[in-house]
Amino acid sequence: MKNIKAIIFDAYGTLFDVNSAAEKCKDKIGDKWEAFANYWRTTQLEYTWLRSLMKRHKDFWQVTEDSLDKSMKVFNIDNSMRNELLDLYKILSPYSEVPEVLKSLKEKKYKLSILSNGTPSLLNELVKSNNLENLFNDIFSIEEVGIYKPDSRVYDMPIKKYKIQNDEVAFLSANTWDVSGGGNYGFNSIWVNRNNNIFDNLDFKPEHQIKNLKELINLI
Ligand code: LAC
Repeated sequence: MKNIKAIIFDAYGTLFDVNSAAEKCKDKIGDKWEAFANYWRTTQLEYTWLRSLMKRHKDFWQVTEDSLDKSMKVFNIDNSMRNELLDLYKILSPYSEVPEVLKSLKEKKYKLSILSNGTPSLLNELVKSNNLENLFNDIFSIEEVGIYKPDSRVYDMPIKKYKIQNDEVAFLSANTWDVSGGGNYGFNSIWVNRNNNIFDNLDFKPEHQIKNLKELINLI
C-alpha cells in the first residue's frame, strides 16, 4: 500500500471490544451474555441507520441506551443491571494488541485518528480510560455532521481537515458495512476480520483483510 498519509480507525468493534461490557457481567447474566451482547450491538447499529434515514438524529449514547432497553426486555435481563452495563460501555476494553500497534505507528510518524459514530465525550473517555490519549492526532465524531456512518459526510471529515485525497487514507474497521462505506467513498479500506466472518455484498470488496491490527504493520 503506497502513499498512505493518514491511518484512520473505526472505534467500536475495531479498537474497542463492544462485547466487553456484557462479558464483564457474565456471572450475573449467565450463558446468554454473548447472544445478548450481539443483539444489543445489532439493534444499536440498526437505530443509527434508521435514525439517519428518518432524519431523527439522537446521539450515540442515547441510541446505546435505547437499544439496551429493548435488548434487556428481549433477553429478560433484570433492570437493575442497566446502569452497570452502561457504565461499563463507557470504559470498553481495547483489543489486546491495540496499544502496542498504535505506539509503533505513531513512531513511524503517520497521522492517526479515530472516525466514529461515538460522541466526542464518549470517545475521549474511552481513549483516556485506556491510556491511549496521546496517540491520536484527531478524534472525529459524527456529531460534527449530525448523521451516522455510512453517510459520505462522515468520511469527508478527515479529508477536509488533512487536505489529502481519499486514496491517501488507510481506513480500518472490523464492521463489514463500514469497510464498504469507506471503500465506496474511496478510502483504502482494510477489513479487520477477527472472527473469520463473511464479507458483505455492498459494491465493495476490500483488497486487504487482516486478523488483527498487528498485521497492519506489514501492509503499509
Ligand atoms: C463506530 C461504529 C461503527 O465506531 O463502530 O463508528
